[in-house]
Amino acid sequence: MDTNDTDIYSSEEERNLNLGGHVGFDSLPDQLVSKSVIQGFSFNILCVGETGIGKSTFMNTLFNTTFENEEASHYQNGVYLRPRTYNLQESNVHLKLTIVDTVGFGDQINKEESYKPIVDYIDAQFESYLQEELKIKRCLFNYHDTRIHVCLYFIAPTGHSLKSLDLVTMKKLDSKVNVIPIIAKADTICKSELHKFKIKIMSELVSNGVQIYQFPTDDEVITEINSSMNAHLPFAVVGSTEEVKVGNKSVRARQYPWGVVQVENESHCDFVKLREMLIRVNMEDLREQTHTRHYELYRRCKLEEMGFKDTDPDNEPFSLQETYEAKRKEFLHELQQKEEEMRQMFVTKVKETEAELKEKERELHEKFEQLKRMHQEEKRKLEEKRRELEDEMNIFNRVKVASETLQGQSLFGSSQQSFRKDKDKKN
Ligand code: GTP
Ligand code: MG
Repeated sequence: MDTNDTDIYSSEEERNLNLGGHVGFDSLPDQLVSKSVIQGFSFNILCVGETGIGKSTFMNTLFNTTFENEEASHYQNGVYLRPRTYNLQESNVHLKLTIVDTVGFGDQINKEESYKPIVDYIDAQFESYLQEELKIKRCLFNYHDTRIHVCLYFIAPTGHSLKSLDLVTMKKLDSKVNVIPIIAKADTICKSELHKFKIKIMSELVSNGVQIYQFPTDDEVITEINSSMNAHLPFAVVGSTEEVKVGNKSVRARQYPWGVVQVENESHCDFVKLREMLIRVNMEDLREQTHTRHYELYRRCKLEEMGFKDTDPDNEPFSLQETYEAKRKEFLHELQQKEEEMRQMFVTKVKETEAELKEKERELHEKFEQLKRMHQEEKRKLEEKRRELEDEMNIFNRVKVASETLQGQSLFGSSQQSFRKDKDKKN
């Protein structure tokens, strides 16, 4: 048979058939919904903004609850990220919400590295997901996905332009996360200035090539609302959990001597627009974009870095097995090279040590010879001295004997004289 598998598959064609009655697979979407509801959802928000800009107040206002919100110190040595996870429930839907706060952002004199801990944190979450995916025994079903789904970037309501820290940070983040810039404390800026400020921010983002998240317009159900909302970016928000009585209704608002700023009043700020877009309409798109765009990019770069490719240099498909084999060969080759280098190094080292030892031995030998010579010299000198002393002793002994003989003779002479004198006297 000369037809291969591909030929068999390509000869298959799709046909549309009519069903004779109800079968039941029209309940698939319902099955999916019910399964998702049982499983629950996770949503992770990263709040980037300088200390005291209103991050915590805004999150409390957004979810209409009170999360922990201790004040951050202004004297941090650097930026660090503080994730906190909460279990929330609305109707029968469970949401595992993680809010990640950037503590100390914008407080340092040198802000050059401020974006780094944020990027590192985002990458670390991608990395742990990738590690889970690459495991033999994967557990993605109940894996706590900590990948950041949206980054709310809080812009200070200066009315001027974006700070370079904002531009640099957003530029570094835009390929890693869905960035939604928001103007914080929008009640501190007047209406006409706010309008100009929004235009200025958008033009600066465009001219610096910062790609912020755009609400999707490909689903016709939400196309209209999303495209009109895209035109309102960046949203100007006000946060407050304080209840104020307006007419006979109690609303969340900020009260000033000259009036009340209502959080949920669309003519006062864009809070409702943002909540609608972020939570009610596009939460799933944010989760999907995170997985299909940002995580995909991270995964691709990481696998390429590790040497995996889909095609070989001739553009032919390259399987994982082949990549593994090629990598293994490369690794073994490198290992052999390293082994050879180490062996060479060892031989050189041994030779060097041997030469050093030989040199030391020669020095020792020389020293020994020198000492031997010195010793012989000493010995010879001592021998000479001994001979001299012996000679001296011999001379001395001879002198001694001679003097003793002389002494004896003189004694004998004097006794004879006295004997002769005695004899003469007698006669
Ligand atoms: P750290 O966590 O310390 O970095 O601060 P934060 O960014 O969480 O700010 P937080 O929510 O603690 O608010 C700081 C101050 O700003 C508080 O006094 C808030 O009442 C005030 N604030 C918060 N939101 C707004 C707002 O929309 N408008 C105005 N005018 N003030 C606000
Ligand atoms: Mg806070």
